[in-house]
Amino acid sequence: MAKKRVLSGIQPTGLLHLGNLIGAIENWVKLQDQYECFFFIADWHALTSTYDDTSKSKEDVKQVCIDLLSCGIDPKKCVLFKQSDIKEHAELHLLFSMITPLPWLERVPTYKSKIDEIKGHDLGTYGFLGYPILQAADILMYKADFVPVGQDQLPHIELTREIARRFNSLYVDVFPEPKELLTKFPVLPGLDGRKMSKSSNNTIAISDSPEVIAKKVLTMITDPARVKKTDKGHPGVCSVYKFYQVFGKDKAVVVASECRAAECGCVACKKELAEVLINYLKPIHAKRKELEKDPGKIEQILNEGADKAEKIAKITMREVRGAMIQEGGSYDSRSCV
Ligand code: TRP
Ligand code: SF4
Repeated sequence: MAKKRVLSGIQPTGLLHLGNLIGAIENWVKLQDQYECFFFIADWHALTSTYDDTSKSKEDVKQVCIDLLSCGIDPKKCVLFKQSDIKEHAELHLLFSMITPLPWLERVPTYKSKIDEIKGHDLGTYGFLGYPILQAADILMYKADFVPVGQDQLPHIELTREIARRFNSLYVDVFPEPKELLTKFPVLPGLDGRKMSKSSNNTIAISDSPEVIAKKVLTMITDPARVKKTDKGHPGVCSVYKFYQVFGKDKAVVVASECRAAECGCVACKKELAEVLINYLKPIHAKRKELEKDPGKIEQILNEGADKAEKIAKITMREVRGAMIQEGGSYDSRSCV
């Protein structure tokens, strides 16, 4: 039986961080072995919030690509591409925008919350409102069966299904309805104890050097009740301990019991965590070094990925045009790969 198809994207809005690593990328790396996977860098999506300064866009895409490859995304096992290389995504976005009622977009919870959350950019644009339509185009273009995403993206997947249903009922049955693949992972706190995220400026980047990691870890928030070394600690409320649970499971039990018994100071505990993280990232950093030496290779990988993605996108678009505007014949892009 043909493998089921998985598709997911990530925005290149800066270097990827440890939250991305455990929340998305490590999962993608596993999925590559079980499914036919399409992973892409959503540079048009990034433009919806960073359109006012595009000077770093090209470098950001390259860096995210290096991050993905160094973490184990393997272009031999999956199709890795850049969204803006496949112009068909824009065409499908346009055609979907014709059939998507405005209230469907206005009620997407991320619409209002992101406008409040992302300061410094005017998000009152048409492009930002249409963000989920572009995402639906990404997903439906490849007729993905599963979309691995975090909880915050569920409304976008639901909207994708609604757009698919509306298209199929207005014209011809073209699109299967995708399902989310919810990944269960602990939410990683950032340096300040809030969720790690680029917009909160509290991240440890996957590519941070050992020196930077050691410095950042020392600034992490710990148990606020532990003022003196002799105060007994509560690992349950300490961000440092959460990191042990994710990246240093073998040490977590000892750390917790020493903390509770006030047998270990926070500075020593953090220094050891920095070592744990540096070791965890060692193979990733080694791979990054290799890739940085050969920038032509990144370009080549993305070009090859785009060639494969484009083949499918072209067939889907012929099908869509045939169904919606009676242009060309009818094809099925699932049966051609
Ligand atoms: N909106 C997603 C995010 O911010 C990124 C994304 C764009 C995506 N297109 C996608 C995810 C298609 C899954 C499928 O995380
Ligand atoms: Fe956190 Fe470690 Fe300090 Fe306990 S000893 S509060 S786990 S940093």
